[in-house]
Amino acid sequence: MKKKFSVEYEIFTAYHELPESIREIIDAAISATQKAYAPYSGYNVGCAALLENGEIISGANQENASFPAGICAERTTLSAISSLHPGMAINHLAIAIQSERTKANGPAAPCGICRQSLIDYEARQGKKISLWLVAGDEGYYYFRSVSDLMPFGFTSKQLGDKL
Ligand code: THU
Repeated sequence: MKKKFSVEYEIFTAYHELPESIREIIDAAISATQKAYAPYSGYNVGCAALLENGEIISGANQENASFPAGICAERTTLSAISSLHPGMAINHLAIAIQSERTKANGPAAPCGICRQSLIDYEARQGKKISLWLVAGDEGYYYFRSVSDLMPFGFTSKQLGDKL
């Protein structure tokens, strides 16, 4: 039996088309790229989330001479939110990148570990986290849920939901 998995997403080409609250987190994600510590990759990632209480929390990647000890912007942000506002839900999350070295373009796609962290956070809060990826000249990619980027993701269900 053949099955197909498809993901629906939207591309917004113009900044002014976006709702104000989304423009705010996109701006925060872009400015958070300046807070990255990325001397090894030269790839600055910024992430910002709009919480249920209206607050915006942002984070950036923090690298380490021992490469695996570095942490991505998305997980820095999730840890900050969970530490500063335990139990507070995230409504929207935006990711942006800035890189002189790679001239990266296209959507600021999160890595696999961050996708895993994002779907776990979404499951834990029991409410969808919408995702906005800043995509350079292409505009902004919008996904209704972070889990749209992680089909067949590993969840607590596999562990028997013993949280
Ligand atoms: N990085 C992130 O911050 N988020 C991702 O989802 C992809 C990768 C960081 C890790 C490292 O500091 C640099 O980008 C290059 O991989």
